[in-house]
Amino acid sequence: MGRCPACGEWDTLREAPAPAASRARGPGPASARADAQVRRLDEVEPLAEHRIPTGVGELDRVLGGGLVPGSLVLIGGEPGIGKSTLVLQALAHMAQSRDALLVTGEESPAQVKSRADRLGPGCGRIRVLPETHLESVVATLEGDPPGACAIDSVQTLTSDTLDSAPGSPAQVRKVTAELVRLAKQHDIAVIIVGQVTKDGGLAGPRLLEHMVDAVIAFEGDDLRAQRVLRALKNRFGSTNETGILEMRPEGLASVDDPSSVYLAEAGERVGSCLFPAVEGSRAVLVEVQALVGPTDIVPPRRVAGGVDRTRLAQVLAVLSRHAGVRLGDQDVFVSVAGGARAQDPAADLAIALAVTSAARGTPLTGPTAAMGEIGLTGAVRPVSHAARRLAVCSAHQVARVASGPVGDAAVPAGLDVLLREEVPDAIRAAFAGNGA
Ligand code: TYD
Ligand code: MG
Repeated sequence: MGRCPACGEWDTLREAPAPAASRARGPGPASARADAQVRRLDEVEPLAEHRIPTGVGELDRVLGGGLVPGSLVLIGGEPGIGKSTLVLQALAHMAQSRDALLVTGEESPAQVKSRADRLGPGCGRIRVLPETHLESVVATLEGDPPGACAIDSVQTLTSDTLDSAPGSPAQVRKVTAELVRLAKQHDIAVIIVGQVTKDGGLAGPRLLEHMVDAVIAFEGDDLRAQRVLRALKNRFGSTNETGILEMRPEGLASVDDPSSVYLAEAGERVGSCLFPAVEGSRAVLVEVQALVGPTDIVPPRRVAGGVDRTRLAQVLAVLSRHAGVRLGDQDVFVSVAGGARAQDPAADLAIALAVTSAARGTPLTGPTAAMGEIGLTGAVRPVSHAARRLAVCSAHQVARVASGPVGDAAVPAGLDVLLREEVPDAIRAAFAGNGA
């Protein structure tokens, strides 16, 4: 600066070394650390990839094999979804081989014990620390660092150094920053539970996303026992994996074949079409359902559950323009049965067939699945992972699959694949023999 902002005089500023305090903050600008080592990437030692399996198969799948020591995983979900149960089951397994600590700010040890009793033997070795005071938790963890630690929940811990209320953004950030430091310093695998409010306020956990190594959303609804784990961020694995669990009287159980859960009510009904969805390394067969009915409302309703709204609008426009399925004076409801999702563009053709079936009042011929992305011109495009999608259809007694081109994907024996490149042709083929 030519002019001093304090006294207003010109040319009075002199250069001086930065004070020691600001240099001590660690690896700062290059001028502060001339001795910092620059190395070629191929000379850097890889991280020793060591995982601690949590014993909950579906959680391990979403994490990419288990917890990584020295890292923080945030599990967020609405109250009552089963976060405390999940964490307790994971700690029970880890306690078999290492010291596992549960910091509980929401419940008393007696409440934790009554949940543990439902889960059966195996929880006994977990150490429980009922504490909401951050500095005390830090002291305990530093005094005797466990191998694995869970904090239930991050919103209940508060630090003395801040005036703000428990659960406020400043507190939650401070608590998480301390836990990140502890985890790294003592190589502890830390799970933190984050409450998400019913009105969708992901605010608490969301603001931690950049501080933790993985964020896992735990979802489901009150009416069903199925629960879904989805990785929203994962520094140590893919974010495509989902884990499917079922809440039972004796705890959460992994669902090995999710298709069987989602297809519980599937059949040859009007407005139904199966769709082989791909989630991470797993293909899952789900049922797309549609209902169409006359309405006086302008514009008519388009309600999408588990499918993308914009894609639904686009599919309806293509059906109207290229396939003569006109629904301008009809309400259209499309949803995926069982609370599953079909957000991928490959679901377009299944949506189109379910809607057409609902509009005509005629079921598709036989148990039919469909896969294909629909372009604005009415073309059915190829989908990713065609071979895996066909395989899951064949494993669940699907007779026919309407599809865009599948390239050189192997077609399982006994599966009738209707390859069509235009929507009207695909519709004709899927209804062939059903008099429509
Ligand atoms: P909980 O883990 O306390 O949920 P969160 O910590 O996310 O608020 O459990 C939620 C519900 O699960 C509770 O209402 C009771 C039910 N539950 C079972 O059905 N079976 C079980 O074995 C357990 C422990 C809980
Ligand atoms: Mg809880």
